[in-house]
Amino acid sequence: MTEATPDKKAQIGVVGLAIMGSNLARNFASKGYTVAVYNRTFAKTQALMENHGSEGDFLPSETIEDFVASLEKPRRAMIMVQAGAATDAVIEQLADAMEEGDIIIDGGNSLFTDTIRREKAIRARGLHYVGTGVSGGEEGALHGPSIMPGGTEKAYESLGPLLESISAHVDGEPCCTHVGSDGAGHFVKMVHNGIEYADMQVIGEAYDLLRRVGGLDTDEISEIFGEWNKGDLNSYLVEITAEVLAHKDAETGKPLVDVIVDAAGQKGTGRWTAKEALDLGIPVTGIGEAVFARALSSSLDQRAAAQDKLPSGTLSEEAVDKDQFVEDVRRALYASKLVAYAQGFDEILAGAKEYNWTIKPGELAKIWRGGCIIRATFLNRITDAFEKNPELPSLLLDPYFNGELDGLVDSWRRVVVEATKRGVPVPVFASSLSYYDGLRSNRLPAALIQGQRDFFGAHTYKRVDKEGTFHTLWSEDRSEVEY
Ligand code: ATR
Repeated sequence: MTEATPDKKAQIGVVGLAIMGSNLARNFASKGYTVAVYNRTFAKTQALMENHGSEGDFLPSETIEDFVASLEKPRRAMIMVQAGAATDAVIEQLADAMEEGDIIIDGGNSLFTDTIRREKAIRARGLHYVGTGVSGGEEGALHGPSIMPGGTEKAYESLGPLLESISAHVDGEPCCTHVGSDGAGHFVKMVHNGIEYADMQVIGEAYDLLRRVGGLDTDEISEIFGEWNKGDLNSYLVEITAEVLAHKDAETGKPLVDVIVDAAGQKGTGRWTAKEALDLGIPVTGIGEAVFARALSSSLDQRAAAQDKLPSGTLSEEAVDKDQFVEDVRRALYASKLVAYAQGFDEILAGAKEYNWTIKPGELAKIWRGGCIIRATFLNRITDAFEKNPELPSLLLDPYFNGELDGLVDSWRRVVVEATKRGVPVPVFASSLSYYDGLRSNRLPAALIQGQRDFFGAHTYKRVDKEGTFHTLWSEDRSEVEY
């Protein structure tokens, strides 16, 4: 612990010393930075100093003015308080105490449109505002998260080296890059979280199938996930799935997963991703279905009312060939995951176009390889894909992933058919397959929808065989007119 002296200044400050904030402050300190710390309730600052003050150079302050005064110029202050009104309040306090050229960083899960608004307001006051995605939970914050900063190039020049040094590193490269201007960092963090929802849901569907159709117990399934973690599916989420499934409840001796209420919570970033995708007109079916699956799981009263009441109409109860089924489920999981990532990157690129950000998707895949919740080996392949072809129309069309899909798609169909025949819900496996089939179809029934729209609303249609816009006079002689 370092006592605040007039000449000792901090290179970085952290406001908000709950779990994420204090862990980030400790991470900065462990990298040799002097870290100014402030929390609205001083007891939290004291607790950090008492428990961890000896880990590095901290400059604790009791007021936000003293905190700002303890920072070297240009001042860099990272806000780690609740998103929304609390963040707005702290921004105001900081901006009032800061001077031109200083940098306010919001490291919370703010909605990117709030970040765009705040950046504009703060820039008008001569300060820099950097909305930053931080992923990795409390462990990541302490030992190296994946960091997705937005804001100006100039702010990144001053701030980037500090953020890069505390981020996770993979193959010697930091999991931190300047994502784009104003809200770009929070936008990609939002989509990252959306992908995380889809990833967790497909893992959940795979587990459910192995248990209900494959007849395997939690220990066997834990081993299978452990095996899968050694191959193409190698990822943090698959790794922790094996651990959760192997864990037994101390009180009952049952698998923990069997005593947990099957109602999944959500804090909102998956929902934001889906809502924004609707506005952008980008199908993110995997993420959307994952958000709805959590909502259905939490509709406990409705589920209780429907249980054993709705007719099942199941078509099969036959035992499956276990080895074949396990491999089919692995492939269906891999394929559905590819779709979720492809859709997530589509949303990021559409967002970049809409909000004028220059986002390099390959760089994003790179900084998600470590630190964050969706870290996975196959992100290297995504980086390769976008580096080889920055104009890739869909990640699924990259030659490597296209080749992978060739070896996955028949298994994927078998799994969706088997699940459907037995009445086991697989919302993301099934909707991802439908999306995939939609993408590869020569003709879609959208032609009929255009016909219907023209019939009831004179919404017009295009023809496949000539230029122009047409309408059929449905309520007259049904001849066609050109608009
Ligand atoms: P985490 O997820 O890391 O546990 P959080 O719930 O996102 O944290 O945010 C909690 C932090 O926001 C706390 O540091 C809290 O300060 P107090 O300890 O004084 O409660 C801070 N916080 C919440 N509202 C705030 C406000 N209006 N002004 C300043 N800080 C605020």
